[in-house]
Amino acid sequence: AYSAEPFVPSRGGLPALRQAAADCRGCPLHRDATQTVFGAGDPHARVMLVGEQPGDQEDRQGKPFVGPAGKLLDRALAEAGVDPAEAYVTNAVKHFKFTQAEPRKRRIHKAPSLREMTACGPWLAKELELVEPELIVVLGATAGKALLGSSFRVTQVRGTVLEAEIHGRPERLVPTVHPSAVLRAEDREAAYRGLVADLEVAARALS
Ligand code: URA
Ligand code: SF4
Repeated sequence: AYSAEPFVPSRGGLPALRQAAADCRGCPLHRDATQTVFGAGDPHARVMLVGEQPGDQEDRQGKPFVGPAGKLLDRALAEAGVDPAEAYVTNAVKHFKFTQAEPRKRRIHKAPSLREMTACGPWLAKELELVEPELIVVLGATAGKALLGSSFRVTQVRGTVLEAEIHGRPERLVPTVHPSAVLRAEDREAAYRGLVADLEVAARALS
């Protein structure tokens, strides 16, 4: 089975982890992507935000949530009273998965498979172990399935504080929609207000 496990160092902090992840070949996604996009932010953050996978911009720049979805997320976090500078942001899958009709054509995001999410899980498990956040904000269905299992339904649990054992540790989580879903929504303003409302639940859970 695909797994990042053989690439994960048993010792060292986040810098060592990030360095090792740059060479991960735990699943086929490393082949077509530009680089591993590891988590970033405050290494002692009280809140960890978990997205799906890097997008086109993140793949080019090597940092999570620096594209359009990230801009929207930063704005929503600030509005909800969560300082983005005090958060750690990462993704369930660390390589960009895409389809491309021809070379030099636009790269279109493709959802990672369950096998790929499972393969990449050991990186997220280590990030949780090292950062030890008080709260995890789950951004969308993919992150939810990666953390809470395939029965996860974002519409059923968004904006609530869940308690669950994640990779052997008791965690508190607040799920919400993915910021990319807000960008795609028919009523973008309503979708954005919904995201902010869920993030306000997270802000209250932290205070
Ligand atoms: N979408 C994600 O889920 N993660 C990113 O880093 C960027 C966009
Ligand atoms: Fe490794 Fe994850 Fe990249 Fe797959 S997606 S190669 S498991 S870092």
